[in-house]
Amino acid sequence: MRTRITELFDIEHPIIQGGMHFVGLAELASAVSNAGGLGIITGLTQPTPADLANEIAKCKEMTDKPFGVNLTFLPGFASPDYPGYIKAIIEGGVKIVETAGRSPEVYMETFKSNDIKVIHKCTSVRHSLKAERIGCDAVSVDGFECGGHPGEDDIPNMILLPRAAEELTIPFVASGGIGNAKQLVAALALGADGINMGTRFIATAEAPVHQNVKDAIVNASELDTRLVMRSLRNTERVLVNTAVEQLIEVEKEKGDQLEIGDIAQFVGGVYPRIMQEGTMDAGAWSCGMVAGLIHDIPSCQELINRIMSEAEKSINTRLASFA
Ligand SMILES: Cc1cc2nc3c(=O)[nH]c(=O)nc-3n(C[C@H](O)[C@H](O)[C@H](O)COP(=O)(O)O)c2cc1C
Repeated sequence: MRTRITELFDIEHPIIQGGMHFVGLAELASAVSNAGGLGIITGLTQPTPADLANEIAKCKEMTDKPFGVNLTFLPGFASPDYPGYIKAIIEGGVKIVETAGRSPEVYMETFKSNDIKVIHKCTSVRHSLKAERIGCDAVSVDGFECGGHPGEDDIPNMILLPRAAEELTIPFVASGGIGNAKQLVAALALGADGINMGTRFIATAEAPVHQNVKDAIVNASELDTRLVMRSLRNTERVLVNTAVEQLIEVEKEKGDQLEIGDIAQFVGGVYPRIMQEGTMDAGAWSCGMVAGLIHDIPSCQELINRIMSEAEKSINTRLASFA
């Protein structure tokens, strides 16, 4: 299948694996790229720029296909060494960056002068238009369904994607809530040039996370996510567990007076314990409603082949029969 996204990133299939903290390591990124999609290493999971350089080198040994690096610009106080991470990306020869969080505007000149293509993750049409204006090559439009940070507008993809299609000139991928071929076909029909998946790629053979994490996704239904940190305007969609239930109790008690310190034990530094050790109640971790559509743990190649073959069949037979 050829779309503006496959052309832009020189990939076989219009399927991107979004950056994911403590999941987007070389093992997953290379597996997705080897399967003809676009794998993405999560920059900030690497403690230092030197570690990111090593992870990029490792990924290059595992695939000769294009892959990208995610750079998440965190809100507020936390300020990682972004120039250092960007230097590691440039020197590592990576030509695709997925940015998220705040606008990548201040780094666009550096990216462009190094022939790096930028896809910015946005949760609204206005942010997508800003990304287009500052020179991003594409956007990843993340609807309310998404695992991780859906923003504060609460617009689901059935509205957000066709709104993005009305306004944008640059290509965009649909992100959030997507895990199968029907949804790829729907995303294309709504105006997207491909899809970005997070949660679905965690439940794959190559995702370098504890088996408990994969099992938790397979066992979850579409009813099992919760939104946390809304009153801090840092809303996150997470899988419910005992820590999340306690967190929500604290949020109810504190109301508008909630400060990050009140819930730090549930959200701060919990990813290694969950993703690597499989301690599933250690805290809140991002997970999308799409968990309800995830019933197995295939290899990335099996998953991408299945999505592409079923999508092409659906377009050529079921949809064609209506015309
Ligand atoms: C466990 C997990 C960690 C994530 N970490 C990040 C991150 O560090 N940076 C980022 O830009 N997006 C992050 N995301 C969001 C994904 O890249 C993607 O946009 C989102 O998962 C899409 O929604 P879906 O899970 O419904 O497919 C994360 C998502 C999950 C599930």
